[in-house]
Amino acid sequence: MSQNTMSKEEYLNKVKEIDTTKEAPKQLEDTDFLTVAKERRSVRQYDPEFKMEESEIREILETAVLAPSSSNLQSWRFLVIEDQAEKEKLLPIANNQQQIVDASVVVAVLGDREAYKNADQIYSQIAEKGNMPEDVKNMYVNSIFDNYGNFPTERLAKIAHIDGGIVANQLMLAAKAKGYDTVPMGGYDEAQFLEAFNVPGNYEAVMLISLGKGTKAGFQKTRLPLDEIVQWNRYE
Ligand SMILES: Cc1cc2nc3c(=O)[nH]c(=O)nc-3n(C[C@H](O)[C@H](O)[C@H](O)COP(=O)(O)O)c2cc1C
Repeated sequence: MSQNTMSKEEYLNKVKEIDTTKEAPKQLEDTDFLTVAKERRSVRQYDPEFKMEESEIREILETAVLAPSSSNLQSWRFLVIEDQAEKEKLLPIANNQQQIVDASVVVAVLGDREAYKNADQIYSQIAEKGNMPEDVKNMYVNSIFDNYGNFPTERLAKIAHIDGGIVANQLMLAAKAKGYDTVPMGGYDEAQFLEAFNVPGNYEAVMLISLGKGTKAGFQKTRLPLDEIVQWNRYE
């Protein structure tokens, strides 16, 4: 390896040596959407003594799942890892990123490739509310089985990743609005994770999210200028 490159583990952990600030993450007085979106940062240092109440974690998840999903099939699934021994098990699988063991919980965002099998349950809820006649509901459910049931695995996996990415961000914003911090993580060995945590074979691993009480603010936002990433109407 040349002097100018690092191993994946070094790359993921180096960031914590860079002393961005000594300040704790900002506690928001104003939790309107734009403020929360601007103030959320990836936080990599957590108070290991701080334990979140289950009710708070549930509230964050309840808010997250209000996100949109393909045909409202809600393919997201969550493995909430709160047990310290389980977090220790995950640590080496996730390149020894310390936030895995220090944050209150790690939420593994997963996606069920067979989520379409719940179509009847989901669409019956709409019918029961009187928002869809029974025969239309049945037509919807049959079409979903016809379509999704015949999609190739890669397409179902892609849908699970799209739904999972959307719900993950909503989870992180909900956490920030509730005074908590998060960092999304793709830096882990997916195959090892799926096996070590006995994840059902029809689930995709989308990302891990550390969730807890941050002790050090993340980096200030840096983004590419909008005009470099936005094109209007069509590409020339
Ligand atoms: C899919 C995905 C994977 C990521 N993986 C990691 C990771 O493994 N470790 C980490 O420290 N940060 C990870 N990040 C966080 C990014 O580095 C961070 O979002 C980015 O630098 C922008 O900073 P901000 O979130 O504070 O705005 C990941 C982010 C995303 C969206």
